[in-house]
Amino acid sequence: MPKAFEPVTVGRCTARHRVVMAPMTRNRAFGSATSPTELMATYYAQRADAGLIITESTQPSPIGQGFPNTPGLHSATQIEGWRKVTARVHERNGLIFAQLMHAGRVGHPSLHEDGSIPVGPSPVLAAGRVFTMDGPQEFVTPRPLDRAGIRGTLADFAAAARNAIAAGFDGVELHAGSGFLLHQFLATNANQRDDEWGGDVQGRIRFVVEVAEAVADAVDADRVGLRITPGATYNDIVEDGLHDTYLGLADALDSLGLAYLHVAEGSDAELAHRLRRRWNGTLILNPYTPGSYTGPESLKLIETGAADMVSFGALFMANPDLPRRLRLGGPFTAPDYTRAYGGDHRGYTDYPTLPPAHAA
Ligand SMILES: Cc1cc2nc3c(=O)[nH]c(=O)nc-3n(C[C@H](O)[C@H](O)[C@H](O)COP(=O)(O)O)c2cc1C
Repeated sequence: MPKAFEPVTVGRCTARHRVVMAPMTRNRAFGSATSPTELMATYYAQRADAGLIITESTQPSPIGQGFPNTPGLHSATQIEGWRKVTARVHERNGLIFAQLMHAGRVGHPSLHEDGSIPVGPSPVLAAGRVFTMDGPQEFVTPRPLDRAGIRGTLADFAAAARNAIAAGFDGVELHAGSGFLLHQFLATNANQRDDEWGGDVQGRIRFVVEVAEAVADAVDADRVGLRITPGATYNDIVEDGLHDTYLGLADALDSLGLAYLHVAEGSDAELAHRLRRRWNGTLILNPYTPGSYTGPESLKLIETGAADMVSFGALFMANPDLPRRLRLGGPFTAPDYTRAYGGDHRGYTDYPTLPPAHAA
């Protein structure tokens, strides 16, 4: 059997195989106060054959919301909504982690009920626009987190992680990439702080390490994964000293005993190799495939030892039974990106599965 279809340790859990559903924001949390719906439960249950599902970005606090209709994990209603999701996935023996994402400076006042200004490491305006209920709008200059704000944000992450466990999740993934709050602290352009949370590598990684520690304290390290996107420029991120930052971060996190490190590889393939060698725990790789999406050929990265698991985004969106299709060598349905963000069941829960009798 190819190694890709052998079990692997994910913290305190064992995944049946190594095909991971990558986190994908789908903007369909139409339940009251951004809580998950039955339709979302159906969507995730359809994909429960994944070795591990990582949910769409989920805000740990109202101020962490960065897009319309994304789900949260900070209220009783949201916990109830997510319980339906996790129960349906567990009925099919799936494993599911909630991705906790705080948007930081790339949120928008109109996404916050109280109209509050987004927070960030420093008052540095990001170039670009944010999708809001009223269409795209310019980013605003964030309010820098002071000491109390940093402590409060750590507490929010810890509380959201506890809520995730209460909602039946097997664990949480901390999103430290894609230009959102944790990434903003790592990045040399967004983080202009001259206190202990800025400056050199140890300063810029401090907040991310503190979030990981706070969440590990709350729900145990073996239920916590962390995602990075080194070198990704999305949301106006510029990172000088990429290798030093991420190797320093990996070193600092390694001793915590996290469930996994999820690396979204960028154009710097050497860095992904170095992280693989440096990281002692389970490593999930989302390969760099410019102009296309992760395809079946990426499974060889597990065979060669470049990763323990591989995550698939677009292909999992369009193929709810992706692991089976990968075993059979296809066929694969192409994703319809026009229905990725928001909308109804179309392009969401109506992608076909292969008939049971289908053979290679
Ligand atoms: C519709 C869509 C939504 C996404 N939302 C998230 C997200 O919420 N969190 C995240 O970490 N990555 C997100 N991503 C990035 C994916 O996890 C993945 O890294 C990317 O799609 C590349 O992998 P692929 O080639 O297999 O699709 C999203 C990607 C897509 C296509």
